[in-house]
Amino acid sequence: MRKLLIMANWKMNKTAGEAVAFFDSLPALPAEVDTAVFAPLTALDALSKAPLAGVGLGAQNFHPAAAGAFTGEVSLAMLAPFGVRYVLTGHSERRDLFKESDAFVAEKYWAAADYGMMPVLCVGESMAIREAGGAEAHTRAQLDAVFGDMTGRVLPKEVIIAYEPIWAIGTGLTATAEDAEAMCASLRAHLADRLGKDVAAQARILYGGSVKPDNCAALFAQENIDGGLIGGASLEPASFAALVEKGC
Ligand code: G3H
Repeated sequence: MRKLLIMANWKMNKTAGEAVAFFDSLPALPAEVDTAVFAPLTALDALSKAPLAGVGLGAQNFHPAAAGAFTGEVSLAMLAPFGVRYVLTGHSERRDLFKESDAFVAEKYWAAADYGMMPVLCVGESMAIREAGGAEAHTRAQLDAVFGDMTGRVLPKEVIIAYEPIWAIGTGLTATAEDAEAMCASLRAHLADRLGKDVAAQARILYGGSVKPDNCAALFAQENIDGGLIGGASLEPASFAALVEKGC
């Protein structure tokens, strides 16, 4: 039985002070659900000193190299002292806006795994790909870019995948629970092919894309959807708490 995991991706929102204020106003969350927040890098120091009431801390971005001439970037070793446990890899905004290739996403994923952090691998198709009937093949190929060659690889403590159809992100258009379930089931079957049945059965596959308190229950009730990666609706404490409550 996989425990529900609700992850907030705040994107480029909240100063350090606003991030701490979020936790000051956050109601107590039920322990039956795992939770985490991907905060902006500039809020991590303040959050590392604030009471987070059991919510795990994640970073939205990092560079896979240990150090070097990468202006503006931060390494995993720079994030670790703030108690960062999770890192995002392959988010469609980084793929599209910052031109992160499949190969670079894989490099980041394995750098995080090797460092002992838990990378969340985001995959998802555009509307054009979906309409052409290529959603499954596209997202499976995104998994293959990371898990296709496991030679010498050691998986992170937990495999976490976020299925986020690009057309649903920040648009108010949510995949139906049935469509999201079909995609997450397909991804789990592909993980079983690549990583074995046991790893696939334990992997948590999240859905992301305009998840809100009023549409999350049907999504989280699906057999192969183990939670959500949530942007807009995670920014307000009451809304985030409602998402977690509805998942129980
Ligand atoms: O990482 C989160 C996703 O991009 C979903 O964002 O909930 O604002 O659609 P959204």
